[in-house]
Amino acid sequence: MQINPPKNSIRGMSESAKIILEGKEYDLPVITGSEKEKAIDISKLRAMTGYVTIDPGFKNTGSTKSAITFLDGEKGILSYRGYPIEQLAEKASFIEVSYLLIYGDLPNAEQLEYFSESITHHTLVHEDMKRFFEAFPTNAHPMGILSSMISSLSTFYPESQNPNRSIEDIDLTIHRLIAKLPTLAAQAHKNSMGHPLIYPNNDLSYTKNFLNMMFGMPTEDYNINPVVNDALNKLLILHADHEQNCSTSTVRVVGSSQANLFSSISAGIAALWGPLHGGANQAVIEMLESIKSSGTPLQHWVDKAKDKSDSFRLMGFGHRVYKNFDPRAKIIKKAADDVLEALGIDDPVLNIAKELEAVALKDPYFVERGLYPNVDFYSGIIYRALGIPTEMFTVMFALGRLPGWIAQWKEMVEDRAPIGRPRQIYTGANARDYVDIKNR
Ligand code: ACO
Repeated sequence: MQINPPKNSIRGMSESAKIILEGKEYDLPVITGSEKEKAIDISKLRAMTGYVTIDPGFKNTGSTKSAITFLDGEKGILSYRGYPIEQLAEKASFIEVSYLLIYGDLPNAEQLEYFSESITHHTLVHEDMKRFFEAFPTNAHPMGILSSMISSLSTFYPESQNPNRSIEDIDLTIHRLIAKLPTLAAQAHKNSMGHPLIYPNNDLSYTKNFLNMMFGMPTEDYNINPVVNDALNKLLILHADHEQNCSTSTVRVVGSSQANLFSSISAGIAALWGPLHGGANQAVIEMLESIKSSGTPLQHWVDKAKDKSDSFRLMGFGHRVYKNFDPRAKIIKKAADDVLEALGIDDPVLNIAKELEAVALKDPYFVERGLYPNVDFYSGIIYRALGIPTEMFTVMFALGRLPGWIAQWKEMVEDRAPIGRPRQIYTGANARDYVDIKNR
């Protein structure tokens, strides 16, 4: 295939890619994004040539155009709607960032007040949902609970199932979701502890209300440490969107069938749960804990991760897109130091994590493959310092990623995206006749 230089076309200067198949040449349009990244548009390829493209794991496939998040994996750049992640993590509130992702721009004071109030107004969940909690086994993983609870919200709000609802109705569903996910997440935690549920407190900010529902008790006031609240705000912002990752693509594909938003997000939560994706934050702490208790040198674990006959991987290392460094990991590593110092915590696991990173990054195996710590490598250490139990780590990720999933779902609906339905290359048996069971 060859890329032709720009030439005049009806829409002005444009590039095209030439593909030669069975001696015949075809021109395919080239699309250029606002940060100059390029794609060959193959959407008409099969109609033109009879060929499809194949790309397992979508390693080289753009599934959509999107104006929400930009990332450059080689340069380690991440921005939401053009704003660098470093500035947002430093200066913004999670609710402001949620608005930015979903509605395209930072809110002014009036818009922020309306958005915050609307979310505060919807934090309660239907009392009947308590009965669901009672039915789960006491050791149920909170991600399983959260995914089920979010899906079940569609049964309490059946109007959300109508694909032709108004913009106002869609906004109401969006606000309900952002409001109720922290309530359900905290209730899942309380339920696993056998503690009484703490109801939302509408006088508190989004993050403070979540902390209060997680750690408060009906019998005493819970004192929210500002260091904890700021760290939570930062972590949620850093997780808020990450373009077409596994869970976001899941939300888009499920939503493309016009399934309702609650169910689409529930599917995204399920995709996030896996240890190769958001579940890595739980897996990292479990790995660091077993390294600590084993007492074996770190090199042993690095060698194990390199051994192709061993399924062990360094959890929290590597990323499909970042092959240099993950900008979120850089911020989180520094935040881990700051938070532990501010809270006066000495966590030996943080030192093991830093030593492991140093050993791995000197090893040619990791350097050659561009394997660096990702967002999940240090986040668990902060969650732990905030008092959040290991099994809740991926729930925390879901809480952060929610506005990104919603923004991507909304963009997909507004763009009237076609149903997600990839092709395949069939490699099974050729046509054959049914054989009666007696003759098999
Ligand atoms: N430890 C050891 N080797 C690794 C690791 C790792 N953590 N990650 C990748 N590799 C190796 C692979 O074995 C492969 O080696 P090879 O070229 O010799 O076959 C090479 O690096 C490329 O890896 P792939 O699995 O092909 O890369 P892919 O883009 O498909 O996977 C992933 C990315 C899933 C993140 C992978 O790096 C991984 O499993 N990491 C550990 C789990 C993790 O931390 N996940 C969280 C990611 S961030 C997020 O989702 C929020």
